[in-house]
Amino acid sequence: MQQLRLTKAVFPVAGLGTRFLPATKAQPKEMLPVVDKPLIQYAVEEAYSAGIRQMIFVTGRNKRAIEDHFDTAYELESELEKAEKHALLKVLRSVQPDDLNFAFVRQPRSLGLGHAVLCAEPLVGNEAFAVLLADDLMVGPSGGPSVLAQMAEQFHQVQQSILAVQEVPSEHTRRYGIVAVDQPEAATPALMKVRKIVEKPAPDVAPSRMGVAGRYILTPAIFDHIRAQASGVGGEIQLTDGISSLLGVESVYAFQYQGKRYDCGSKEGFLEATVELALQHPEVGAHFRAYLKGLKLD
Ligand code: G1P
Repeated sequence: MQQLRLTKAVFPVAGLGTRFLPATKAQPKEMLPVVDKPLIQYAVEEAYSAGIRQMIFVTGRNKRAIEDHFDTAYELESELEKAEKHALLKVLRSVQPDDLNFAFVRQPRSLGLGHAVLCAEPLVGNEAFAVLLADDLMVGPSGGPSVLAQMAEQFHQVQQSILAVQEVPSEHTRRYGIVAVDQPEAATPALMKVRKIVEKPAPDVAPSRMGVAGRYILTPAIFDHIRAQASGVGGEIQLTDGISSLLGVESVYAFQYQGKRYDCGSKEGFLEATVELALQHPEVGAHFRAYLKGLKLD
């Protein structure tokens, strides 16, 4: 059988970001910066690090800033050139390396994550693809591969869909897709076959405490399974329900990644990411550490 390759990533970015109002009244939540980079850029860089070069954004109204961010800023470039600000020019150009392709498709109505993924089908075609939710900022282990790069490596072995999972507190099962899994093989303890997946169950009916983080690698068979779904939790067409149906015909794996997830869809998670990434930042890290140490916290 021909090896499935992973060349495309889908970024569902049509959501309204109501949890961050008023900051997101006139700008996309994916453009909120953690230190000096917007959330969406962290996700695109993660996909790039996994060898993906075709980035597909499922956008909506008021999301133009995302398209502009990944386009060339001619005026800015020529001003920086004139002023010989080469370091800043390099930063600017690093956002869109020459070998990256960007495509945009609209999700005309907020009908859920499953529906958003379906909107990307004409651009994905009959290929495996990654889905990255930019709200979930994922940081790989220090000096190690990114979370999606870890998943891509597993995908090249198993050639089946893979979901990133992490243990979540039992009172938080209502926030995640929750999976039940088989015992892993001894050789690959982080990779487990999914038996069951449920979207946002109450703690007393959750099949486990293993929650899906916002990184998926999916085979193209998922599209038919999403299409067959009626609306689920919250009246939306859920990706989780499509995956649950896919399980009937293909293996799906859960992967316990190395690294840390920041839930930047919540204010607390966003602040945690900001503090921790600022501490690691080559330019401001040392100063910020000294500043935090000087705070009188009690
Ligand atoms: C979505 C998915 C959920 C997943 C979560 C990860 O939920 O529907 O299954 O666990 O992302 O962040 P949302 O956070 O968009 O409500």
